[in-house]
Amino acid sequence: WGKTGHRATGEIAENYLSKKAKKAVNKILNGQGLAFVANYADDIKSDPEFRKYSPWHYVNLAEGETEYNPETANPKGDLYQAIMKCKEVLKSKSATKKEKQFYLKMLVHFVGDLHQPFHVGRGADKGGNDIQVRWYKKGSNLHRVWDSEMLNSYQMSYTELAANSPDLSRKEIKAIEEGELIDWVYESKDLATKLYDSVEIGEKLGYKYMYNYLPTVLEQLQKGGIRLAKILNEIYG
Ligand code: ADE
Ligand code: ZN
Ligand code: ZN
Repeated sequence: WGKTGHRATGEIAENYLSKKAKKAVNKILNGQGLAFVANYADDIKSDPEFRKYSPWHYVNLAEGETEYNPETANPKGDLYQAIMKCKEVLKSKSATKKEKQFYLKMLVHFVGDLHQPFHVGRGADKGGNDIQVRWYKKGSNLHRVWDSEMLNSYQMSYTELAANSPDLSRKEIKAIEEGELIDWVYESKDLATKLYDSVEIGEKLGYKYMYNYLPTVLEQLQKGGIRLAKILNEIYG
């Protein structure tokens, strides 16, 4: 996602944190909220010291591959490995506060990216980055339409997005929390597969695309927030 999507994910997660998790997160982040730190992983991308984390923002499954295979996964890391690593450090008794702070900020961002379907896209087109389309009157690409074009056109702040995300029943929340990290990877991958098939190269996207898919964007942000909270609630008891 772009900035708004990531901040919304963090803000939504705040609403689902347990008391204990809220306290622990607050301590690690010195009082900064999850929305505030949600774009850290993008902010450090241009710093050579942090360039090695670039592949951690996405996980592309090879053509014809239906299962995540650790043997053929990117040895430089991917979104799945990134989230596993963040969880491991946050659970560790020996990690320093500084390490926990870094990996918590990364986790908030990566759980957001996991719910942008094109971050679990095809490697061949860089998760839709190489699929040029028009967004209203300007040039764009399919990845960017999902990262930011739809949310920018919607013109809602991250706080508005969080405040207006629907109140779900206990049962609906449970259904979203269901499953393991790998199941959420496949869910995004299946969504991306469907979305790839619904556009043509060079297509002009706008109102109709928003009408069809903005609800999916909003649903993905809410799922990301709920699942981020679930991970943190599990870590902090
Ligand atoms: N680069 C290569 N694949 C990508 C993806 N799925 N998302 C973002 N950047 C990428
Ligand atoms: Zn992206
Ligand atoms: Zn990212």
